[in-house]
Amino acid sequence: MAPSTSSVITLNINGEKYTLPVDHRTTLLDALREHLDLTGTKKGCDQGQCGACTVLLDGRRTVSCLQLAVAAEGREITTIEGVAEGDQLHPVQQAFLDLDGYQCGYCTPGQICSALAVLEEHEAGWPSAVTADVSPEAGPPPLSPDEIRERMSGNLCRCGAYVSIVQAVARAAEVRTSGAEEAVA
Ligand code: FES
Ligand code: FES
Repeated sequence: MAPSTSSVITLNINGEKYTLPVDHRTTLLDALREHLDLTGTKKGCDQGQCGACTVLLDGRRTVSCLQLAVAAEGREITTIEGVAEGDQLHPVQQAFLDLDGYQCGYCTPGQICSALAVLEEHEAGWPSAVTADVSPEAGPPPLSPDEIRERMSGNLCRCGAYVSIVQAVARAAEVRTSGAEEAVA
């Protein structure tokens, strides 16, 4: 008997479970967009180059066009549809809105998912390629425009909204820091 080329899988997306049959070659991106109508995640290059399809897998950013849907079973998947709390935008979304961090908006879901991970990675002390002092005792470097550009460099914007995108990520980082300080005070 020929081996089966499809399976029924269950994906955990934005806190909800979705059970669907997929061909084993289906990417996570196509499962989201074509099977589940979660079209917030965008397809740009479909080959891991542009970042438009960025989602979070167990809190880590990934390009969903290079992930097989079957390999995402059992993982926590967060797409742009799961970032806001009801009508309350996430501070990263609000910063993109307030600072015009987009033009056509096609790359924006990926930019926002990536920015969410940037803030987590930075807070966890991960260095980037432009971090001057990578010794563990140095702690997280200031999230300067250069740091933001480097950390967001996997997300391309054909409209060239980069100046505003960098400002939006910086604003979101400030909001996050002030929120953490208020919680401690
Ligand atoms: S569509 Fe996935 S990286 Fe471009
Ligand atoms: S806002 Fe148009 S591609 Fe980025």
